[in-house]
Amino acid sequence: MGLKISVIGTGYLGAVHAACMAELGHDVVGVDTDVLKIEALAAGRSPIFEPGLPELLASAQASGRLRWSTDIADVADADVHFVCVGTPQKPGEYAANTDYVFGAFASLAPHMKAGSLAVGKSTVPVGTVPRVLEVLQAGVCDGVDARLIWNPEFLREGFAVKDTLTPDRFVYGVEGAFADANVARLDEVYARALAAGTPRLVTNFATAELVKVSANAFLATKISFINAMAEVCEASGGDVVALADAIGHDERIGRKFLGAGVGFGGGCLPKDIRAFMARGEELGLAESVEFLRTVDATNVRRRSRVVELVRDVLGEDVVGAPVAVLGAAFKPNSDDIRDSPALDVAERLVALGVDVRVHDPEALAVARAQRPGPGYVDTVDEALVGAQVVVLLTEWQVYRDLDPADVAEQVAGRVLIDGRNALDRQRWAEAGFTVHALGRPTITPAR
Ligand code: UDX
Repeated sequence: MGLKISVIGTGYLGAVHAACMAELGHDVVGVDTDVLKIEALAAGRSPIFEPGLPELLASAQASGRLRWSTDIADVADADVHFVCVGTPQKPGEYAANTDYVFGAFASLAPHMKAGSLAVGKSTVPVGTVPRVLEVLQAGVCDGVDARLIWNPEFLREGFAVKDTLTPDRFVYGVEGAFADANVARLDEVYARALAAGTPRLVTNFATAELVKVSANAFLATKISFINAMAEVCEASGGDVVALADAIGHDERIGRKFLGAGVGFGGGCLPKDIRAFMARGEELGLAESVEFLRTVDATNVRRRSRVVELVRDVLGEDVVGAPVAVLGAAFKPNSDDIRDSPALDVAERLVALGVDVRVHDPEALAVARAQRPGPGYVDTVDEALVGAQVVVLLTEWQVYRDLDPADVAEQVAGRVLIDGRNALDRQRWAEAGFTVHALGRPTITPAR
């Protein structure tokens, strides 16, 4: 039989988590202070573009196992409470803002019933959880114990449903008197995946906090490593894609996350490595996290490289030159534009006076609302027609599927900058394009 579950915070993480918990057979209430978000979810509309989520929301709501509310008191019945609020980067600083986490636990505490378990899923700086426990202890009613597990979430946008239902692993950070009972309770929630063999690691609080940030730091480092190699390739005539293929065959290295290009963005990797640097410095460990400064700087340099390439191609004609920017989201299969390399490049091109036309299959509405600088167009054709340069910055399948011969007919200048190493360079060259790809020798049209 399913458990009664609350999910507090219904953003990227919480909306998916709530729908997946209902899919597992639990009785779920999702709570958020954002009325518009809750109204959308209650009407069956996904607030984000995430493959599989609309279907899951619809079936969960039809089953009667998923409700939405703006009233925190509606969580009172739940056996397990998941806190899924964000920890964004503080404006003008590297540190993460944990106010929403503390606020969520403070508002949850008085509504916890005896025996219920609070589970933190947010990404927090190491050392936060003991303070969260204090907030819970201060807020629970008499006769209720503050039970807490830290259970970081590792989902990737675009694969969020799959990653939630069948994760690579579960990590439970747990300490204190109720540790065994808390673990057993969370095991009940995840019974299906555990029965299917998903590994589950039980750690102390600090380790659980660190697993998430160190995993993201490692992934970011891997991307910046290959992007640093791309810089070396550019200076020496090497080809970073062939290089990644070759080193990736070594199982100790692996080919995944060696995709050289315009680098990482999104709501996690950039923010998490900066928060890690800030926390490391607070702990007196500036040297231990110093490498992340290089990781961040390399990542940002790749964006500059694309801007330079466009400027070099256009030369004196840069002002007013029409340029097609393909992609606005930070990665394909997402409408998330947080710290998007594509929009950063687009805005920097606008600053140079370029007539930028940005297309994206899913992120246009949010981009228009939140980053109004560049020109946005609703169709790929509008971006391409008359463009002097085509710049691919988010590797959506629709762009991979473009026929270079058709594009050649539409554009004014046959120059492609592949910022993701996603397109078939030979085909584009055969269609008459000069192809600049990051970390690879430029190829010129086949005659
Ligand atoms: C990431 C982690 O993968 C996930 O485990 C964690 O829970 C949240 O952060 P996400 O931000 O959704 O997930 O995206 P991810 O697929 O990791 O990509 C992050 C960025 O790196 C994207 O901008 C992507 O384009 C870029 N990237 C990824 C590369 O530039 N090269 C690669 O080889 C892989």
